[in-house]
Amino acid sequence: MTSRVTVGTSECEGIHTAATLLMIDFLMLLQRDHRDLESGLDELLKAETVVAIRTALDGVRLGLTAHAEAEDIVLYSALAEAGTPEYLEHLIGHTRDAHLAQEGALAFLVCAIPGSQMWKDRAHKLRDLVHLHALYEEHEVVPAIREVAPAVYDTLAGSFATERLRQLAMLQPSLPIFVPELARAFA
Ligand SMILES: [Fe+2]
Ligand SMILES: [Fe+2]
Repeated sequence: MTSRVTVGTSECEGIHTAATLLMIDFLMLLQRDHRDLESGLDELLKAETVVAIRTALDGVRLGLTAHAEAEDIVLYSALAEAGTPEYLEHLIGHTRDAHLAQEGALAFLVCAIPGSQMWKDRAHKLRDLVHLHALYEEHEVVPAIREVAPAVYDTLAGSFATERLRQLAMLQPSLPIFVPELARAFA
C-alpha cells in the first residue's frame, strides 16, 4: 500500500508553482489523476486486511471526490466563458451525470461488507465507471474544449489544479473507527 493512491497527485502538489502550472497541459493533469484513481481502485481490490482496505478506500474516496468536484466547477466555468456552445454543454452535462453515477457507486461500495462478493462486485463496478468515464473525458470532452475554445482551454490546467487542492483541503480522511462487521470479515 502506498500513499500515491491516497490523494493521487499529492506527491506533486507541493512543487506546483505558478511557473510549472503554466507549462502543464489540462489533459495531462486529468490523465495523471485518472490513472491514479484506477490504480487506487486496483489496490482496493487487492487489499486483504482491514487497515489496507480502509486506507485504500479512503484514498479512493478523497481522490475521486476532489477530482470530480474540481472538474465540475472548472468545466462549467469554462463552458460559461466559451459562450455556452450547445455541443460543449451536452458533453459537460454527460460528465456531470457520470460523476453522480460514480458517487452513487462509491456509496453502494461503502455500504457493502468488505471482502464479500457484493463488495468486490461493487468495487469492480466503480472501477469500470471510472475507467470508461476517463476515456470519455480524454477522447471526447477535452479535445472538444480545446478545439471550440482554445484560449479558455489554456487556463484550465491552473484552474483545475487550484480547485482540486481546495477540494482536498475541505475533505476529511475517515476517522479510525471500530466496525464489528469489518473486523469479523477478516477474523
Ligand atoms: Fe470526470
Ligand atoms: Fe476526470
